Amino acid sequence: MSNEKKVLFTIFGGTGDLAQRKLYPSLFRLYKKGKLGDHFAVIGTARRPWSDAHYREVVATTIQSLNPTQAEAKEFASHFYYQSHDVNDSKHYNTLKKLADRLDATYHLNGNRIYYLAMAPKFFGTIVAHLKSQKIVTENGYNRLIIEKPFGSDYQSAFELNHKIRQVFPEQDIFRIDHYLGKEMIQNISAIRFANNIFESQWNNRYIDNIQITFGEALGVEDRGNYYDHSGALKDMVQNHILQVVALLAMEPPVVFSEKEIRTEKIKALKAIRIYEKEEALKNFVRGQYAPGELENRSFKGYREEDKVAPQSTTETFVAGKFLIDNFRWSGVPFYVRTGKRLTEKGTRINIVFKQVPVNVFKTSIDEPCKDTSLSPNVLTIYIQPTEGFSLTLNGKKVGQGFNTTSRKLEYRNSAEMVENSPEAYEKLLLDALKGDGTNFSHWEEVAQSWHIVDVIRKAWDQVAPEFPNYKAGTMGPVAAFELLEQDGFKWIWQPDEWYRKRGKLND
Ligand code: BG6
Repeated sequence: MSNEKKVLFTIFGGTGDLAQRKLYPSLFRLYKKGKLGDHFAVIGTARRPWSDAHYREVVATTIQSLNPTQAEAKEFASHFYYQSHDVNDSKHYNTLKKLADRLDATYHLNGNRIYYLAMAPKFFGTIVAHLKSQKIVTENGYNRLIIEKPFGSDYQSAFELNHKIRQVFPEQDIFRIDHYLGKEMIQNISAIRFANNIFESQWNNRYIDNIQITFGEALGVEDRGNYYDHSGALKDMVQNHILQVVALLAMEPPVVFSEKEIRTEKIKALKAIRIYEKEEALKNFVRGQYAPGELENRSFKGYREEDKVAPQSTTETFVAGKFLIDNFRWSGVPFYVRTGKRLTEKGTRINIVFKQVPVNVFKTSIDEPCKDTSLSPNVLTIYIQPTEGFSLTLNGKKVGQGFNTTSRKLEYRNSAEMVENSPEAYEKLLLDALKGDGTNFSHWEEVAQSWHIVDVIRKAWDQVAPEFPNYKAGTMGPVAAFELLEQDGFKWIWQPDEWYRKRGKLND
């Protein structure tokens, strides 16, 4: 039986950056692999008055880096149709419906439709309402909605948006994108946990001291000042990507590895995360904003000097915080998270820091004080990007006379070739949506709970004026982010800024 999917994609925001950078290349990869064939068509919509011919040229350009033959690019692009569209005008949806029905008949698509909302969130509600009122949703095939972040800007707005969408689409047909869930090593978290008894047997508060999640970015805010200055790092990264990763690390093993069972466990984990009172939020979460800085002889502007950013902006470009999970497995284990723009390096990684052995026996006499700190903790590191893999830091004996211990690392990395050839996050997620598999998307209950967790932090911050800027571009964030762990007797395991500082490439 052919794996080929029959489907009509309608992409709202078809001329946009996301469509061009991610969606068209991903569709092409699926096409090359035979997941899409003769029976698919794409309608791109946006306000601009493009012709089909121009649209197809644009689509063909976006896949150039994938080295298609000319014939391939042409044949692929021939499935794309452009419709200039004003999302607020009902009449335009009638035109869209006619085109959709025509393509359905031409390509024999059986009424299967995927609507992709890749534009400003303020339009999501009206688009979805029109899909129903203008009868674009079909009765014979499936109708699925893929929706980009941000899903709301707090719990209330997310609730209202969800309510509107649910008037048209049932939960199982809503695919809320969190592109981190399509990343290879985020998906690998479950394999590392549930396929290795040495880890799963230790995956609790008896053996784990703390968990550290770093989503560092070297880039600044680039040309997204407009959006970012109203969002900030907490809503941009913590509410979605980081909390999804916390859920995957903290959840109980699902009974079977199915969408429904994984979902159930993730929601339970998110519900166990403590919702802070104002004072706790201020104590456990710190924020930062980058000032101008220099790294490796390159100078960077401060956030307030960036394009489309208010000159006195109090938006945070960095967050570090501590989540506490109030359940039997995790009680007492801090989950430290940090993310920021213009940090030392692009690096997404998770450090699982295991507790020390109960007694350090490596001393020569009983009277000697315990030197527990002389042993490094065992650390399981999951490298998400830019490299992919994992490592385990253990202690061993230093070669030579006497008896000194030293730490050793067992490392595994996916080869550059594997990384290069593995499907990109968007390709995987699009295929999942084509199959109707929502495992790697955010369920409403996850989104809702994440907003509850984050809203209190945002609200607490809004009542206190921050002293910004407070970290230099090129460093790993403000001092407060380091103190957060120090006051609990821990430290960040990953300190790339130290590496640069020691070599004189980064000055504070
Ligand atoms: C997006 C954020 O969701 O994720 C961006 O809006 C951020 O601000 C990006 O840069 C990071 O994604 P990735 O895949 O490049 O790590």
